[in-house]
Amino acid sequence: MKNKQEVLGQYFTKIEIVERLVDFLARFKKYSKQAQILEPSFGTGNFINILRKNGFANIEGCEIDSELTNKPLDFFKLSLDKKFDLIIGNPPFSKFNLKESYFDPKKYFFSKISPILYLTKSELKKSKEKIENVFILKSLKHLKDKDSSIGFVLPISFFIKNKNRSVKEQLVEHFSTVVVYQNDQVWFDRNIPCCFAIFTNSKELKNKIVLIYENGEANQEMYDISGIHEELIPQIVFHKTKGNAQNRTGVPLDNFLDHKSIKAQKSFSSNNISASNILERTKIPKGISVEDYRIAVVRVGNSSVGKTGLINIKKDVINDMFYVFDVKEQYKKNKQIKEAICSAINNKVDYFKHITSRVGSKSIKKEDILSFKVQV
Ligand SMILES: C[S@@+](CC[C@H](N)C(=O)[O-])C[C@H]1O[C@@H](n2cnc3c(N)ncnc32)[C@H](O)[C@@H]1O
Repeated sequence: MKNKQEVLGQYFTKIEIVERLVDFLARFKKYSKQAQILEPSFGTGNFINILRKNGFANIEGCEIDSELTNKPLDFFKLSLDKKFDLIIGNPPFSKFNLKESYFDPKKYFFSKISPILYLTKSELKKSKEKIENVFILKSLKHLKDKDSSIGFVLPISFFIKNKNRSVKEQLVEHFSTVVVYQNDQVWFDRNIPCCFAIFTNSKELKNKIVLIYENGEANQEMYDISGIHEELIPQIVFHKTKGNAQNRTGVPLDNFLDHKSIKAQKSFSSNNISASNILERTKIPKGISVEDYRIAVVRVGNSSVGKTGLINIKKDVINDMFYVFDVKEQYKKNKQIKEAICSAINNKVDYFKHITSRVGSKSIKKEDILSFKVQV
């Protein structure tokens, strides 16, 4: 198979990361050394090796690739009679533009273990589903009892607001505690934005979602389980609440900007303003009506996101990389305020990089700009 690495999602978790994740899980759920454990896609076996090193004796594993094991086994063919205390590992992730990397239910309809047994109605309707989601759904059917847990490395995009709703709903039916962990290290030989998610039942953390981001210190935020469909990305929550790229003091831009959408002239082919030249437009030229100037903030792109300039709404043509804002009525003729807002955002452009660069969607929301604090 060409591009096997991408089709099968073969990114192996670094051994020192696996050590950290296995220790981390033990903080939330303790298992006896006799606990029955499944690693459903073991790859080069790092999770299994660390678990064994930690004294766990009953570990089973699946791995589909015969180049990695002499007993290849497709997790979707593992009998549902098999039940486990803990299912832990790093399942394959589907790659957005690679059809073969998705789970195709048709492929398994005639298998002994039909997808009907583990997919929800909403997934059954689809012709393809993200493979990591199906790893989760099938794992739910392998849980032994209320003390069983799942600990999976997942793409961080899993926890974007309102994504994967039906899978999250299934998860909270089984589990009343969700922990999402990120740190500032690279977990594979490539930097894939991901997290380690623990789904468990813990008396102390009943009905809680815990987000932990480690970057030399442990930053923790806690939410009620009812927030499961919210954006649960520890690193971004950290940058929004504690990170020093955001101004801790100052006034939210909301106080100066209007929420209304602004109609600007747009074109991809014949614009005079794009993310690459917006920083040449941070001043309002003398002799031109200040009222005609609007604030344009780049909303996408790792290197340009957050860059801000002033555009002339009557003359300038932009591409669709921007959010365009007007100031509130009382500031419309205020050159100083418009320019000061621009420079305040540009001085802290790192903030916008931090809150976007590691998420699948790679774009900022309007509310991220409106809640950004400036001192003008
Ligand atoms: C992201 S890698 C992770 C491997 C290992 N868990 C780790 O953390 O190093 C995913 C693994 O899943 C395997 N895989 C893909 N589809 C599978 C399936 N249906 N059943 C079992 N293994 C599968 C791939 O071959 C790959 O080795």
